[in-house]
Amino acid sequence: MKKIISAILAGAVMCTSAVALAGCGGSKTESKTESTTAASSAASDKATADTPEKGANGELHMATNAFFEPYEYYENEKIVGIDAEIAEAICDKLGYTLVIDDMDFDSIITAVQSGKADFGMAGMTVTEERKQAIDFTDTYTNAIQVIIVKEGSDKVTKIDDLNTASIGVQMGTTGDIYVTDLEKDGAAVERFNKGADAVLALSQGKVDAVVIDNEPAKAFVAQNEGLKILEEPFENEEYAICVAKGSDLTAKINAALKELKSEGKVDEIINKYIKA
Ligand code: ARG
Repeated sequence: MKKIISAILAGAVMCTSAVALAGCGGSKTESKTESTTAASSAASDKATADTPEKGANGELHMATNAFFEPYEYYENEKIVGIDAEIAEAICDKLGYTLVIDDMDFDSIITAVQSGKADFGMAGMTVTEERKQAIDFTDTYTNAIQVIIVKEGSDKVTKIDDLNTASIGVQMGTTGDIYVTDLEKDGAAVERFNKGADAVLALSQGKVDAVVIDNEPAKAFVAQNEGLKILEEPFENEEYAICVAKGSDLTAKINAALKELKSEGKVDEIINKYIKA
């Protein structure tokens, strides 16, 4: 109970500061804090034998934006997904209790920089520009930016058509960064707090296309009738966890991640959420 309250307080603090810095999204659900409690399955691992008991090192706060299925999303009241489970497995290995703080995507790096969160994990793409602000761990998976359009619409049928289109993106994402480049060519970019809001605008005909990561794109297309993903991929990316510059967490997380990769655990988690 105490833990839950402190998690909620942490979330409230996070949100307050996010308001000051970048706006808090205005929605109740976006500032909600969830604590994941997935059972440790690593009890018999050799690697955990000489690491502390789960929770012995205290809590690690993960900043995320939990509207990004299959990486992080709400199932009932709980944040689940690939990132949530990999983070849980990392914390198990390192002896921390994971607390997930949900916020706007473009507040995550600030939260990590300021120490309000210990790390950020949000299907976050490694970019040179972000590396100026935070450190990244080793990567844990690949992704592709894709274009979602309305079925039967011929406004955008290939990447080049984006130059003259209106494009919806989630604010502060790499999708946003790529299409911002096209604005000078005549593209009109609409930025939304959530990917889902961009997709809704597409369904309503308010934008011609949405640029977003491929797996969330698949989830959105499955959930919304009349949408499709263009075959031509837009940009290849790699996801990693971000930590404060110079933090010793980078090495710790990398060590845990390395073990989880070699044990096949990372693949197992990914395959659980992404069916081949
Ligand atoms: N991969 C993209 C980026 O790093 C989008 C990530 C959005 N993630 C989220 N949890 N909403 O910019």
